[in-house]
Amino acid sequence: MQLTKKEKEMLEGKEGNAIKKSMEILVALGEIYGAKKLIDVTSVQIAGVSYDNLGEAGLEFLEQMSKDGKTRVLTTLNPAGMDLENYKNLGISEEFAVKQKLVIGAFAKMGVLTTCTCTPYLIGNNPHYGQHIAWSESSAVAYANSVLGAKTNREGGPSALASALTGKTPEYGMHLDENRNAQIKVIVKTEIKGTHLFGALGKVIGEKVKSKPTYITGIKEATVEELKAFSASIATYGGAAIFHMEGITPNKTPIPTKEITIIKAEIDKAVKSLNMDSEIDFISVGCPHASINEIAKIAELLKGKKVTKEFWITTARPTMKIAQANGYAKIITDAGAKFAADTCCVVAPIKGRFKCLATDSAKGCYYAYSKNQSKTKILPIDKLVEEATKK
Ligand code: F3S
Repeated sequence: MQLTKKEKEMLEGKEGNAIKKSMEILVALGEIYGAKKLIDVTSVQIAGVSYDNLGEAGLEFLEQMSKDGKTRVLTTLNPAGMDLENYKNLGISEEFAVKQKLVIGAFAKMGVLTTCTCTPYLIGNNPHYGQHIAWSESSAVAYANSVLGAKTNREGGPSALASALTGKTPEYGMHLDENRNAQIKVIVKTEIKGTHLFGALGKVIGEKVKSKPTYITGIKEATVEELKAFSASIATYGGAAIFHMEGITPNKTPIPTKEITIIKAEIDKAVKSLNMDSEIDFISVGCPHASINEIAKIAELLKGKKVTKEFWITTARPTMKIAQANGYAKIITDAGAKFAADTCCVVAPIKGRFKCLATDSAKGCYYAYSKNQSKTKILPIDKLVEEATKK
């Protein structure tokens, strides 16, 4: 890989140890993937924040990097393993909290904005069309490439941190236009409405085409919330980093001749597979993190009612603050539901605590079952509130 004089100096350690280590990570990645050079990025999103996933080795790496590493571009963080303020109310142990705060402290010392959300695009880390960025978090990567038209590979936590500290990433994969073109056309022959059905569609397409970029037709309209649900699901079930949706997403692509069709029976089958036989004891909305619009809808549905089951709304702290300022949060907490800001029901250490999660998120179902060994049900938000308030 061709490095500039300055990049060579960074690699030799002339700008400190954290920069040296970062350059080693980026150059190694570039060489594995055949990149010819490094390019500048304007935005970074770092995943791998929960102490539950990082463990002691991950914490040590971050503390080492924070000795002399400082971010050079706008950098935000994925959810942590707990609500940083309200963790006791959510049943998180003090022992875990101490470690999680050390992780957050190391990121903060490096200048990372400790936003702790997987929807950075809803709270100000919102790159525009054509910008090169370095994001981790598969749902946000699919959203950024597809809906925003920014360009990012699916980074791991260490490579995203390396980009944050250097402002650079190797030029390969999604940074090159030829790799972003659709390879298969998907004709959707049934109406898809609501985050739960967009999630189910992502599951069906992801399982059929794996990580291939798709050109999807037949979707008449989609909200931001539906697109975030779809991005999360297609990335989880297939691994795609980009999709094109006719009339909805902004990227240009030649239309592939190879095509497949999705019919209603396949969506129904996907929903059925996520609706397992069990009694719901945990309800969660906000995978990916809930928007203010979703919170407003939940507040409207919960007004004057009481929940009878554990009900978490996982969201970014700034979004929760908006909900507090305009009264939605009070309605929700008066009903007995809880905000879990900074975290989510997948990265929080809650394995074994609940038998069956009900959510509108196909991605949430996947991880609840595979990581937390919980049964799942997928329902639209109004049905989730109905379940939560059942006597
Ligand atoms: Fe976000 Fe957690 Fe879902 S990180 S996409 S809410 S699994």
